[in-house]
Amino acid sequence: MAITIKSPREIELMRESGRLLSLVHDELAGIIRPGISTKEIDRIGEEVIRSYGCIPNFLHYNGYPASVCVSVNDEVVHGIPSESRIIQEGDIVSLDMGLIYHGYHSDAARTHAVGQISRQAQQLIDVTRQSFYEGIKMARAGKHLHDISNAIAAYVSGYGYGIVRALVGHGIGVSLHEDPQIPNFAQRRRGPKLQPGMTLAVEPMINMGSGDVEWLDDDWTVVTADHSLSAHYENTILITEGEPEILTLGKIP
Ligand code: MF3
Ligand code: CO
Repeated sequence: MAITIKSPREIELMRESGRLLSLVHDELAGIIRPGISTKEIDRIGEEVIRSYGCIPNFLHYNGYPASVCVSVNDEVVHGIPSESRIIQEGDIVSLDMGLIYHGYHSDAARTHAVGQISRQAQQLIDVTRQSFYEGIKMARAGKHLHDISNAIAAYVSGYGYGIVRALVGHGIGVSLHEDPQIPNFAQRRRGPKLQPGMTLAVEPMINMGSGDVEWLDDDWTVVTADHSLSAHYENTILITEGEPEILTLGKIP
């Protein structure tokens, strides 16, 4: 499948999809506290998404049973919300979710600190977020897709963290996952040339230890193989003639 170029009308819908998702993320950032279950976070997330007249795009995607992926500590992504999984002081919690607005998908993730966390854990969260921003410095018309990948990888490698290779970012639009795949690790090929109107979900997943991951028995939850902490940061972006537009950025970066 080719990479789609969105029309001006589609870009408007992508913008609104992203803006609404940013509001949901901001809302969920405010409810994460010790004692809340990961199921409750999902329930509120779904409720807020639907309150905007949108559809949670993760729900039932390949059988995924929830609207929000809640991944705690050594869980990398796709943690399944559960009534019995209670958030504790000192946890780091990655929330990944998306929605559909008038047929257009948005997708974004944030890792939150719960109360006091170690300096090392905070650095992992900060470096993961910054690696996204380093990557999208290359997200400009005329650059190539893998310039983004290489910029993320170069920045993260400076900290000795492990980059998850088993999962990648992706194009997004009328589907949650469109071409191209967007690796977060170094690439030898340049990849396709970036063009205005491309919409991409750039999403580094970074581990404190090795980048190797495993799947739990639920066949969804991805955990670090060495049980080190993991962080995730994702936005849906639009390639323009100049700076990329971040479509899912709310008050809380
Ligand atoms: N956020 C994931 C991604 O970026 C999608 C989650 S898959 C789901 O690709 F099944 F959990 F929805
Ligand atoms: Co994504």
